[in-house]
Amino acid sequence: MNLQPLHSQGPSLSRIVTGVWRWQQLSSESVERLIKTSIDEGITSFDHADIYGDHRCEELFGAVLKNQSALRSQMQLITKCGIKFSSAKRPQTWIKHYDTSEDHITWSAENSLKMLATDHLDLLLIHRPDPLLNPHEVAEAFVKLKAAGKVLHFGVSNFTPSQFEMLQQFLPFPLVTNQIEISLSRIDSLFNGDLDLMIKHGASPMAWSPLGGGKLHFEERDWFAKATKYNASYSQLALAWLLKHPSNIFPILGTTKPERISEAAKSTDIVLDKQDWFEMLKWSTGRDVA
Ligand SMILES: NC(=O)c1ccc[n+]([C@@H]2O[C@H](COP(=O)([O-])OP(=O)(O)OC[C@H]3O[C@@H](n4cnc5c(N)ncnc54)[C@H](OP(=O)(O)O)[C@@H]3O)[C@@H](O)[C@H]2O)c1
Repeated sequence: MNLQPLHSQGPSLSRIVTGVWRWQQLSSESVERLIKTSIDEGITSFDHADIYGDHRCEELFGAVLKNQSALRSQMQLITKCGIKFSSAKRPQTWIKHYDTSEDHITWSAENSLKMLATDHLDLLLIHRPDPLLNPHEVAEAFVKLKAAGKVLHFGVSNFTPSQFEMLQQFLPFPLVTNQIEISLSRIDSLFNGDLDLMIKHGASPMAWSPLGGGKLHFEERDWFAKATKYNASYSQLALAWLLKHPSNIFPILGTTKPERISEAAKSTDIVLDKQDWFEMLKWSTGRDVA
C-alpha cells in the first residue's frame, strides 16, 4: 500500500490507518504485534488521542518505540488533544470538558511526544469542537509547535463545516483533515456538506468507526451475494465502499486482531462497481435514491 497525500501540502499517510482506541487492555507483546503487522501490510499510519485508554494507549505504544526506535521512521503518528475528563491520572479535572487554550494544546502535544517516545508528530488534531474555542489561541499554539518542528501538520475532528472554515481563517497553513464518523451505518456526511467541504479545501477526510464499531447489521443474504461477487469479506466490502468516495476517505480501522489488519489491507485492491455502491447505500437508507 503506497502512501497517499492527505492534502497537497502533506502529510502522506497509508490509505488505511490503524487506530489504537481499543488497545488499552492489550499486553505490550500484542501491541508490538499489531504495530508490526500493520507496517508489514503497508498500514504505516497510526491514529491516537491523548485520552485513549484513560491516557494509557500512547504510553503503551511508545514503550514499543522506546525499545525499537527504528520503527519510528517507518510510520506516521497522528494524535489528538482538547478533551479533558475526570481520571486518577488527571485529579485536577472534575467534569468532562474541552480545553483548546494555547497552553493546553502546547502541553498536550509535548506530553504526547513524551508518551509516544518520539520527537515529532506527523499530525495533531483538535479532538472535538470546543464552544469556548478561541481561534487566536489555537493558531498561536499551532504556529509555535510547527516552528519548533514538534508537529508537522494540523487538523480537526468532529467539526462542522462552519467550525472548520472559521478556524482555517486564522491559520497561515491548511487544516489537512476533518476526522469524522463515516461508515455504511453513518452516512450523513455524504449529504450534509461535510465531505463537500473536504473536497473544496483539497483536504481528505479520515473516517472513524469505518465498520460501525463492528456493528454493521445488514441482511446476511445481501452481504453474501456481494462478498461472492467480489471474492471479498464483509469488512473488506465496507471499507471499499468508503474508499470509492471522491473525497479520498482514509478509514481508521479499530481492530485488536492482527489477522483483521491483514484482511483490511486488501480492501484497497477492490474497486466497487457504481451500481453495487448504490445498492450498498440502499442497505443503509432502506430505499432507492430519489
Ligand atoms: N475522532 C474521534 O472522535 C474518534 C472516535 C472514535 C474512534 N476514533 C478512531 O477511530 C478508530 C476506529 O474506531 P473503531 O474501533 O470504532 O472502528 P471500527 O473498525 O469500525 O470497529 C472496530 C471494532 O469492530 C470489531 N470488528 C468486528 N469485525 C471486524 C472485522 N472483520 N474487522 C475489523 N474489526 C472488526 C473490532 O473487534 P476486534 O478487536 O475483536 O477485531 C472492534 O471492536 C479508533 O481506534 C480511533 O483511532 C476516533
